[in-house]
Amino acid sequence: MSAIAIDGPAGAGKSTIAKLISREMGYIYVDTGAMYRAMAVYFSKNKVNPEDESAINEAVKNVDIKIEYQNGEQQVILNGENVTGLLRTEETGKMASKTSKYAAVRTKLVALQRGLAKKTDVIMDGRDIGTTVLPDAFAKIYLTASSDARAKRRYDELKEKGENCSFDAIKEDIEKRDYEDMHRAISPLKQADDAVLVDTSDMNIEEGFSKIKPYLLLKNGIPSSENFEFNYTNTSGNSYNFKGTYPDGKTFSYIMGIKIIDSKYGSYVEAQEDDINYQVLIATKLNENSTLNDCLNEAWTSHWHNIKYPEYKAPDTGTTSYLESDCIAGNGTAFTL
Ligand code: DC
Repeated sequence: MSAIAIDGPAGAGKSTIAKLISREMGYIYVDTGAMYRAMAVYFSKNKVNPEDESAINEAVKNVDIKIEYQNGEQQVILNGENVTGLLRTEETGKMASKTSKYAAVRTKLVALQRGLAKKTDVIMDGRDIGTTVLPDAFAKIYLTASSDARAKRRYDELKEKGENCSFDAIKEDIEKRDYEDMHRAISPLKQADDAVLVDTSDMNIEEGFSKIKPYLLLKNGIPSSENFEFNYTNTSGNSYNFKGTYPDGKTFSYIMGIKIIDSKYGSYVEAQEDDINYQVLIATKLNENSTLNDCLNEAWTSHWHNIKYPEYKAPDTGTTSYLESDCIAGNGTAFTL
């Protein structure tokens, strides 16, 4: 199964961006914060003192959380009851923040999260997904924004709902929660070493998403190539210009993506616009000094695979930036996040 991890502080845009990616890639979106919130609902209902770890340990034994999907929306079932509608309150958020630091709570929920990722392709968001829950996720994004930007978003949201609120109080609360998340002993919030950092302070959701897309494209061959242009002449002398404007599968002439398989091999994806036949060319990294063009030439003469979109899944997953750098060098447009 393939997994994408998105971590970062509250208000950075994780869930909105994760849902967009989920739609584009057909991966199931898993909101892990909702699980900590469901635990919190149980603690609040049963008047468990969030400061008393042994009481929490006992209570956790009585909690059963299951995840279901209705019309593509995640539902959280707490001891047989759908509590999804109760999760986003201020009180639940505070309780979740106080209790998510305990080992008993985290152990139970991490097991649930890993179980979901074993069954299906997931895009999972939270605080510790790339570092602890799914360290082998093929793509990891650390999404952040300044506390000012996040407080402003929350302030505007509440104002729009007609609620009275103070920007300074919201910002203070955000900074306090960041501190707690980042300084707890178990699985603190931090960027995984192999995660890409995306700062959305000066971006809206669409801009954030469009920054992430090329990265996913490189990692998985997601069908979108708006940031790529690459000229390639194969050994038969045919020239190709790979350039894409593909968002919906119908408007491009060529799309291209790179999926990194391991430190020696990368797969290169080419698709032609006929909606039926898509072709994948597996490019082999020949040696330390070979360029992307060398890899493509080798691939052109040795491996061809016909595939059909959208069932396409590149044959393997892994993490390295080997071909990534070749691609960046070759395509003319910088790959920046
Ligand atoms: O993202 P959220 O606001 O719904 O998260 C609720 C709480 O759960 C928040 O205090 C952080 C915590 N949390 C966590 O510790 N680990 C996760 N993977 C997800 C959320």
